[in-house]
Amino acid sequence: MGELTLPGDKSISHRAIIFASIANGKSIIRNLLISGDTNATIEAFRSMGIEIEINNKEVVIYGKGLKGLSKPKESIDCANSGTTARLLIGLLTGQGFDSTVVGSQQLNKRPMDRVSNPLKEIGCNVESSSERLPVFIKPSRINKFVINTNVASAQVKSSLMLASMYSEQPVVVVENKATRDHTEKIMSYLDIDLVRMGDTVSVPPVHNIPNFSETVPADISSAAFLVALGLLTDSSINLKNVLINESRMGFVKALVQMGAEINIDITSTHFGEQVGDLKISKSSLIGLELGEDNIPSIIDELPIFALVASQAEGETSVKGVGELRVKESDRLEAISQLFTELGMSIEIYEDGFKIIGPQEIKSGIVKTYGDHRIAMTAIIAAIVANKEIKPDNISCIEDSYPSFFNDLQSIGVDSL
Ligand code: S3P
Repeated sequence: MGELTLPGDKSISHRAIIFASIANGKSIIRNLLISGDTNATIEAFRSMGIEIEINNKEVVIYGKGLKGLSKPKESIDCANSGTTARLLIGLLTGQGFDSTVVGSQQLNKRPMDRVSNPLKEIGCNVESSSERLPVFIKPSRINKFVINTNVASAQVKSSLMLASMYSEQPVVVVENKATRDHTEKIMSYLDIDLVRMGDTVSVPPVHNIPNFSETVPADISSAAFLVALGLLTDSSINLKNVLINESRMGFVKALVQMGAEINIDITSTHFGEQVGDLKISKSSLIGLELGEDNIPSIIDELPIFALVASQAEGETSVKGVGELRVKESDRLEAISQLFTELGMSIEIYEDGFKIIGPQEIKSGIVKTYGDHRIAMTAIIAAIVANKEIKPDNISCIEDSYPSFFNDLQSIGVDSL
């Protein structure tokens, strides 16, 4: 059996860097994900005067307090990272300087009005000449204290929550559909008195954030690729210290409903998040109908989920996944192309897909559109089918999971 501890969760790593940078004094973070996306967040705070040391086992961040960031000399470059851009835009509205957020060509295609519009609605000074980057931020004063996110997005909710910490009165953020709640969890962990009721969170004015020493749980979205491998091949896999957060468990839950043998053992809590070990064994799977309400909790895993569904018996249908069109690539289109290239069939709708399995996976070259999760899905397809399957770009895997190939090798995959 292969046993692995994966790198830190990407969503929690971004938030750990942000909160350590605006905390008072030195914070120590273990198992922080160091990847293309989290490096963008690290560099953003360095450009605002925060000292960040990256050592072998831990990252040390010397926070300067809620108002301690300094005006960056240049625009803040978020590279490919949507989370960096959207969370920073909210945080920057609370600072005492003007700033500009920019990104890579890939990020420049993605919508930013989903954060700038609600921020403007509560009185923040956020401008752009289009719905995308660059976004220009000026010091702001919040003058509306209830806001609806309108789109099911943790990035939008978190951007509003970060801006709200600088308000003179509590701000209530209302979600139309529950999304990942890492910002809520880390804020509560840092003694901020949030009030959570259903899909509503009230953020009080915040004056102080304590420094901390904590370990980031392993990324459940990166784990998803190994879970797929454990289910579809003979190698049973044990993943240690994985994030077990209800709002991220859609993939595992769907698989269990499909017949997967996945054993979860909760072991500890870090950053207010449950952490546990996952044991995955080869299983026979049957198709599943996945409705809209389940989507936020599986949103990042849908490419690998589609591959798993292609090996399940019967029909799998997924609805309400229009958000896939505005991820690192148009992921519905990318999944469709991956299936076609590998000789499989899938029906794609404007906001859903249908797969009838099991299907034979053929050799091919997969168009990734520079999207890390499409590239990793192609690699897992190659291992499962034992075929010559190559993604057209593997460097994009660095965005979220730089040790992907090393981890595969360490559990005995050597045909790469
Ligand atoms: C993230 C939220 C999700 C997810 C992304 C990370 C976060 O995006 O897809 O990978 O850390 O808040 P949306 O907020 O656009 O759904």
